[in-house]
Amino acid sequence: MTTTIYVCTTCKTADDPSPDRAGARLFKALQEVAHTHQSNVIIEGVECLSVCKRPCTIAFSAQDKWTYVYGDFTADDSAEQILACAAQYAATNDGLIPWKERPDALKKGVIARLPASLTSSRTPETSS
Ligand code: FES
Repeated sequence: MTTTIYVCTTCKTADDPSPDRAGARLFKALQEVAHTHQSNVIIEGVECLSVCKRPCTIAFSAQDKWTYVYGDFTADDSAEQILACAAQYAATNDGLIPWKERPDALKKGVIARLPASLTSSRTPETSS
């Protein structure tokens, strides 16, 4: 099963001297090191996850699993922890990763989790 890491490429941090947005730099860093981790992870850039006050922001998603939204990542040194946690996420059946087992940045940065039914391919039940 494929895990998608959505990365907000438009996140920006205060007092960042770089001309490139922090989110875009995190996206690029993830792409650069992804080959050193498992291959069933897709890294997809998105413009805003509506968590603009907690840059940089990402989300893990996979079919029939909880979706997790995380924030507060630094642009230039978070990629390894994110990919390590994505591998943990991919290894679960439901997307739930025990808090104690997460890398430090993903213990502190959790923003939300969304039920699997929101991302599932299941069709809604209809009443008759
Ligand atoms: S700009 Fe990154 S979450 Fe909105």
